[in-house]
Amino acid sequence: MLSIDALTKTFGCNTAVDRVTFTVEKPAMIGIIGRSGAGKSTLLRMINRLTDASSGQIMFEGREVTGLKGAEKRAWQSDCAMIFQQFNLVPRMDVVSNVLHGTLSRRSTLATMFNLYPDADIHRAIAILDRLGIADHAPKRAEALSGGQQQRVAIARALMQDPKIVLADEPIASLDPMNAQLVMDDLRRIHEEVGRTVIANLHTLDTARRYCDRVIGMLQGRVVFDGSPEQLTTGVARDIYGADARFSEESTSTSIETLDRGAVRALREAEATI
Ligand SMILES: Nc1ncnc2c1ncn2[C@@H]1O[C@H](COP(=O)(O)OP(=O)(O)OP(=O)(O)O)[C@@H](O)[C@H]1O
Ligand SMILES: [Mg+2]
Repeated sequence: MLSIDALTKTFGCNTAVDRVTFTVEKPAMIGIIGRSGAGKSTLLRMINRLTDASSGQIMFEGREVTGLKGAEKRAWQSDCAMIFQQFNLVPRMDVVSNVLHGTLSRRSTLATMFNLYPDADIHRAIAILDRLGIADHAPKRAEALSGGQQQRVAIARALMQDPKIVLADEPIASLDPMNAQLVMDDLRRIHEEVGRTVIANLHTLDTARRYCDRVIGMLQGRVVFDGSPEQLTTGVARDIYGADARFSEESTSTSIETLDRGAVRALREAEATI
């Protein structure tokens, strides 16, 4: 399905991503972990074509992605939706319009200028928000929502694109543990219920272990681990985070594990009634 071959990015004499190679055979939930500066964001940005690769290849369903230009490149970017740590919503715009932005690449400039959206798209946007438990916030400005709610709006916008892959760059890094869990649950559901591949850069080990079927560890631009959460032992994690780093499980933990599911359900219900 997705095949990355010797993908490399250099910035001057700094090799940010160094001959990264891996294949995703069937839809999966993949976590990418590694220290700050390991190349995680650069890798995702190359897959999405926000950054051009210096060398190497990305293939998706038999098509070469690295060389796509113009409309074909934009179509690919729509096929692999990106979710960012800082949500990247339009703060003063209402929630539903932010979600409808996910259809932007398919619409004419004129329709975009006048904010003309087909009824079917509006209904779909509301249905997606509903599935994420935040439909009641649809008319509010994005900036009026909490961080966790805003990230779920960003997920709704991504789903609006009907993407083949969802790429998430540290999607929970700005969130408290409870919202982090809600967002990770949503990403997991996109994989399980919608059958999409989700690739998420995660800065905490416990989240990668808990939510992902497969974990890729990067160190200095290179893949140094590619395996199941069970194979990700403390020793392996120490290698990924660097032998000289004062590594501890605790320092890479969000304490997401400590939350009980009842509390999360209660929060969802409370939100639904606001
Ligand atoms: N636009 C850029 N220009 C120059 N160097 C860059 C650029 N973007 C990234 N780098 C460098 O590439 C390397 C990898 O950066 P990247 O942001 O991909 O790491 P990361 O693993 O995402 O780190 P973090 O966990 O802090 O987000 C770093 O050394 C960084 O300084
Ligand atoms: Mg990063």
